[in-house]
Amino acid sequence: MIDSAALLSSPLARGPGALPRQRQLIQRLKQAILAGQLPAGGKLPASRVLADELAISRNTVLIAYEQLTAEGYVIADRQGTRVAPLSAAAASAAKQATPPEAPAFRTAQRLSRIVATRAPNDGALPLTPGTPALTQFPLNAWRRAQDRALQAAPAATLGYGPPVGEPALREAIAQYLRVSRGVRCDAERIVITEGAQGALALCVQLLTNPGDTAWLEEPGYRGAKAAFHAGDLNVVAMRVDADGIAIADDAWDKQAPRLIQTTPTHQYPTGAVLSLARRLDLLERARLAGAWIIEDDYDSEFRHQGEPIAAMQGLLPDAPVLYVGTFSKTMFPALRLGFLVLPQAIAGPAMPSIVEMLRGGHRLEQLTMAAFIENGQFSRHLGRMRRLYRERQAALREALAQHLGVDHEVLGGHSGLHLTVRLPPDIPDRAIVEQARKLGMNPNALSTFAVTPQPQDNGLVMGYGNTSADRFPALVKQLGKLAKTLRA
Ligand SMILES: Cc1ncc(COP(=O)(O)O)c(C=O)c1O
Repeated sequence: MIDSAALLSSPLARGPGALPRQRQLIQRLKQAILAGQLPAGGKLPASRVLADELAISRNTVLIAYEQLTAEGYVIADRQGTRVAPLSAAAASAAKQATPPEAPAFRTAQRLSRIVATRAPNDGALPLTPGTPALTQFPLNAWRRAQDRALQAAPAATLGYGPPVGEPALREAIAQYLRVSRGVRCDAERIVITEGAQGALALCVQLLTNPGDTAWLEEPGYRGAKAAFHAGDLNVVAMRVDADGIAIADDAWDKQAPRLIQTTPTHQYPTGAVLSLARRLDLLERARLAGAWIIEDDYDSEFRHQGEPIAAMQGLLPDAPVLYVGTFSKTMFPALRLGFLVLPQAIAGPAMPSIVEMLRGGHRLEQLTMAAFIENGQFSRHLGRMRRLYRERQAALREALAQHLGVDHEVLGGHSGLHLTVRLPPDIPDRAIVEQARKLGMNPNALSTFAVTPQPQDNGLVMGYGNTSADRFPALVKQLGKLAKTLRA
């Protein structure tokens, strides 16, 4: 029998502000057990005795003992309630509230290859690349559509839902992609993902083993780089020029890839369009090498000059392409809805595993999005945004020409939400960005998009989606001042 005096060193607290006595007793017993004051195997006082000594009800003690039994501190049997035995390691761990020396926790080596490049709360800052006009989003229409979706299926929308996404949304996307993007697809081959990023991660999971080679555009999309490193891939950067990703003939023999990331319609961040000759060559070579092309078609809806450029996926039947799309630019990033169109050859064998890997969810958003597409609100919104972005881009170009005050070359601009401004090599882009963030704006340094930055990768990637046109002159003037001050 344990000497219950050890438990009675002070009475339980009473009165306003005191924890319930049952809770106090549980805590006191736990601490005594962990500290070794109540040794393993020792019998706790009978509930009646302890209740009398502490001047509390017997029921309170019984409930405390039950709780300690449930948590494994004590064992109750016919002979009474005893302190549970602890292994030597557990007993020693329990005694050390804080370990004498914090152990060196090991993280995965891949983390050192995935480095942070984003500013905190970056989407809210002017000149952030890739953020759409959040204040212009038709929130009321979205709210009404969401209410209608919820009314139509109140309880059903609360469950997990189909792992690969709502049939209505997959159907609406298939229809939209066939008509607007020239993608060859049907709803059965579409997987709804957590944005384009979820689609990229899924491509890695479905098609690669650690150590496989993946080609990445250079400069290129940092989200793709992170997804590839997260899959322990051997990331090989492929230079981009005015015709998009440029692959040397011998690259295929040297280190044939499993995956090739490309943004053919609007190269991110340089804005180049992948030429038809290169598209056909890439498709052919990938097919021969057993490689898969990931076509990231992230912002092609906002074409500002000329006719829309059709997706590469639709150029040939059964092209070795995984087509990735997102609603982050066309709607809003927090929606976290993207999609992956699988080639027929992958969809069949991989679907059972995909269904097991994913959990569905976000059903209300998916149903609302499907309705938005079906009833024409999506295309009306796109039309409005296209006009707005065209104006904003023109204003940014004008401001650059008038107010930057240093030599520069503006790249791209036929589509999308950003312009890339190449600067002379003696103006350090990262230093400008660091200072610009202190002034409350968020252009990105072009060099941070390259694995091995070259002198021509020095510049600023400037978003105009989320910045109203009248702000550009002042912002660009500030950037020009920084550029002159920081010039080496
Ligand atoms: C090249 C590229 N792909 C995809 C995305 C969108 O990713 P997500 O759908 O995960 O928001 C972006 C956004 O900046 C992008 O620049």
